[in-house]
Amino acid sequence: MVSIIERAPAKLNLGLDILGKRVDGYHDLSMVMISVDLCDYVTVTDRKENEIIVESDNPRMPNNQKNDVFKAARLLKDQYHIQSGVSIYLSKKIPVCAGMGGGSSDAAATIRALNKLWGLELTKEEMVKVGMQIGSDVPYCLHGGYAKVKGKGELVTPIKANLSSWVVLVKPDFGISTRTVFPDIDCDQISRVDIAKIVSSLEKNDYEGLKASIGNSLEDISIARKPFIQKIKDKMMTSGADLALMTGSGPTVFALCRNERQANRVVNSLKGFCKEVYKVRTL
Ligand code: C5P
Repeated sequence: MVSIIERAPAKLNLGLDILGKRVDGYHDLSMVMISVDLCDYVTVTDRKENEIIVESDNPRMPNNQKNDVFKAARLLKDQYHIQSGVSIYLSKKIPVCAGMGGGSSDAAATIRALNKLWGLELTKEEMVKVGMQIGSDVPYCLHGGYAKVKGKGELVTPIKANLSSWVVLVKPDFGISTRTVFPDIDCDQISRVDIAKIVSSLEKNDYEGLKASIGNSLEDISIARKPFIQKIKDKMMTSGADLALMTGSGPTVFALCRNERQANRVVNSLKGFCKEVYKVRTL
C-alpha cells in the first residue's frame, strides 16, 4: 500500500473586488489571496477495490459526492480511466463555512496527491482545469502563496511579495454559505476595492499602503446579515491590530499585526469573545 500526505493551507483575501455579473450567473472577481499556516491534511492511500472511500476526523464532513475531496477523486478517476480505488483521510483544522477556502484547499491537495499516487504527470494548468469543475477557489489553492486572482477564480498570477506579519483569525460560532451571499449583490451599489494598489503595496513591501488599500466588497452584505462581524473587527482594532478585514464571504475576520506582542494582545482580547481564535503566519 502506498500513502501520500498533502498539506492543505487556509487562504485569506487581502482584497476582494466584484467587477460585475456574468451571463453564467457567476461574478467576475478581482482578488488578492494569501495562504496561512492553518492547514488541513489529506492522506490518499491506494486500494485494490475499485471505489473511493472518504473518512475524516471531523464527523460533520460528508463522505460522499458532497465532499470536495470525493469530487476531486471522482473527476480524476473518470477523466484518466483509473481502474483502482483510493481511500482518502481528511484531517480537518480549518473551520468549515468560514471564508477560508477549507473545502477548496482540501480538493486542491487531493488533486496534487492523486497526481502523484496515480502517476498522472499533470501540469498545473491541467490540474487547474480539473479544479475549476469543483469550485472557484480551487485554482488558487493549487497555486498557493501570494497571488492575484481574476475571472471566476481561474486566472491566477503569482505576486512577488514577502509580507512579514502575524495573522490573528477569529471565526464566530456561525457559518455563512457563499452561495447565499452572492445573490444579494447589487453591482452598482457595492463598495469597490483598489486591487492594483494592494498588489503594488505588497510588491513594494509597503505596509502603510497595504493598510490603506485592503478591502472586501462582500463585507457590507455579510455584516448587514451578521453585525457580530463588525464587532470582531472593532475589537481587533481597539486591541492594537494594524488592520482587520473579513475574508471571502465571511464570517471569519483576520487581523494583521507586525509583531508578535501585538498579535498576542489581539488574541487575548478576542478569546473571551469567540471560541475559535488562531494566531498564524503567512506562508
Ligand atoms: O464556485 P463555488 O461553488 O465555490 O462558488 C460558490 C458560490 O459563489 C456560487 O454558487 C456563486 O453564487 C458564487 N460565486 C460567484 N462568482 C464567482 C465565484 C463564486 O457568483 N466568481
